[in-house]
Amino acid sequence: MTNLIDFSDKSNSEIELILNTAKVYKQKLNSGNINDKIELKSVLQFKKIGLCFFENSTRTKISFDVAANNLGAETYNLDVNTSSTVKGETLIDTLKVLERYGMDCFVIRHNESGIFKVLERQFDLPLINAGDGTHAHPSQALLDLFTIKEHFPNLSELKITIVGDLTHSRVAKSNIELLSKLGVNVNVFAPGTLFPYYLDLTNEFGENIRILNSIDKVIENSNVIMLLRLQKERMAAGLLPNSSEYHKYYGINDNSLKKVAERGIYIMHPGPVNYGLEITNNINHYDKNLILNQVENGIYIRMSILNYLLNS
Ligand code: CP
Repeated sequence: MTNLIDFSDKSNSEIELILNTAKVYKQKLNSGNINDKIELKSVLQFKKIGLCFFENSTRTKISFDVAANNLGAETYNLDVNTSSTVKGETLIDTLKVLERYGMDCFVIRHNESGIFKVLERQFDLPLINAGDGTHAHPSQALLDLFTIKEHFPNLSELKITIVGDLTHSRVAKSNIELLSKLGVNVNVFAPGTLFPYYLDLTNEFGENIRILNSIDKVIENSNVIMLLRLQKERMAAGLLPNSSEYHKYYGINDNSLKKVAERGIYIMHPGPVNYGLEITNNINHYDKNLILNQVENGIYIRMSILNYLLNS
């Protein structure tokens, strides 16, 4: 059974296939030809997708829902707050119930890092990791890569720096894992208190990673800057200076945005954005802001992931 938990069991050709299929889906959905949309509706006809989000989400949850519907699948959203998990039912029992209702695939977000190690032993249907604690968010990394490749089809030209809460960000880990797998050198920049142990201890990733020590160095050494959301819900107290210090030294503020614009650097952020912290509100007037492109591309990538796991 094939799952999408992280990229450890995925080959470069599988990644390429997912990206290429997403490109075809993007073309078909935007062709203006109704027959293309009708044709897509047959790809996952009669399949049932369970969306089980035990943590909040707008982008990932809705885009998987839209993606499944674009391919003709039916979706079933577990409303965690009104479900029997509130009465103490376990995650596994809850999913076993939904499995008996005929689900063909589960898309799961959960706050426990590594929860899929347990789940993959319990279920024989494809599992998609929609974010597990601080571990991984593979569909986000794939949509980020898809967005990057629209501007840098030749990844050897890419100079990307990931900035911010590297310790708690599953988006950072999945992007580093994916980009490193594809041989892309990644720069990182973070406050010392948010600099993760995994970067200097894990040789698997360490080879391709360069640590930068100021936002000016980031601007000098990047053609794409990927900012991370500060994961306050996962942070111990005292890890950050106050918000204005963070914005001044680690964010793209109005001053650094001017330099970013002079160099034509693309800006990415997985969302949701904390304006005035990771990034200035004026980013919304910047033409190389890719944040909404990432949002839209999430549909095509998640269609491709669903097709890959359910039709392979
Ligand atoms: N980027 C991301 O995972 O956003 P959501 O939390 O809105 O799904």
